[in-house]
Amino acid sequence: MRIIKTNTYEEMSVLAANMIGGQVLLKPNCVLGLATGSSPIGTYKTLVENYEKGILDFSRVQTVNLDEYCGLSGDNPNSYRYFMNHHLFDHINIDKANTHVPNGNAVDLEAEAIRYEKFIESIGGVDLQLLGIGHNGHIGFNEPTTYFPKDVHTVNLTESTINANSRLFERREDVPTQAITMGIGTIMKANKILLIAGEDKTDIIEKSLYGKVTPEVPASVLQLHKDVTVIICKKK
Ligand code: F6R
Repeated sequence: MRIIKTNTYEEMSVLAANMIGGQVLLKPNCVLGLATGSSPIGTYKTLVENYEKGILDFSRVQTVNLDEYCGLSGDNPNSYRYFMNHHLFDHINIDKANTHVPNGNAVDLEAEAIRYEKFIESIGGVDLQLLGIGHNGHIGFNEPTTYFPKDVHTVNLTESTINANSRLFERREDVPTQAITMGIGTIMKANKILLIAGEDKTDIIEKSLYGKVTPEVPASVLQLHKDVTVIICKKK
């Protein structure tokens, strides 16, 4: 496990983008696992800049996102599909058909979860998975619980996650109460993991990286992964 502390959000974003860019250069047809939220916005901005400078070519890259809200269509500005298009996919030469986000609007969410898990496997798994972390230690939408959920599945969001995410919605009642997410097993199958977070997450990161491995702190499972890099920035 590598832990890197940077002074600013910009420095963290450049480092994370360089790691992701390095993966794309080493394996032009790689599979990137991507996250949404406020932590990766700067990383995506830097990736776009590096693409514009001609350093990166995404034409053969495939992406799989960690999660999606249930009940929001891809053109809803609060959906994670919209977020990814807006912050990354619309600005690089990736084939949109190669960008994958779970379908939170599927009629049969259980079938969609099985399909998404199998799909990730079918494209050879994730080479590099980008993660953020919740204040309660969630990764993806794997909330603290009594077991590590293995595969892609639907979850009921906790009050604390709904509250944290309501900042992005007009009204708290608009925040979906369910999401579909990669499981802990899905995330752990990635070859490499890159977790990025601001200083406000220092306590939960310490608990996750140095505390007991327990599903009550979902990110603690990362202690068992062979290749994890954590970048924490001082100022956001
Ligand atoms: C997003 C995701 C979440 C976030 C986490 C941190 O796709 O899976 O686990 O990474 O909630 O969010 P931010 O970066 O907004 O603090």
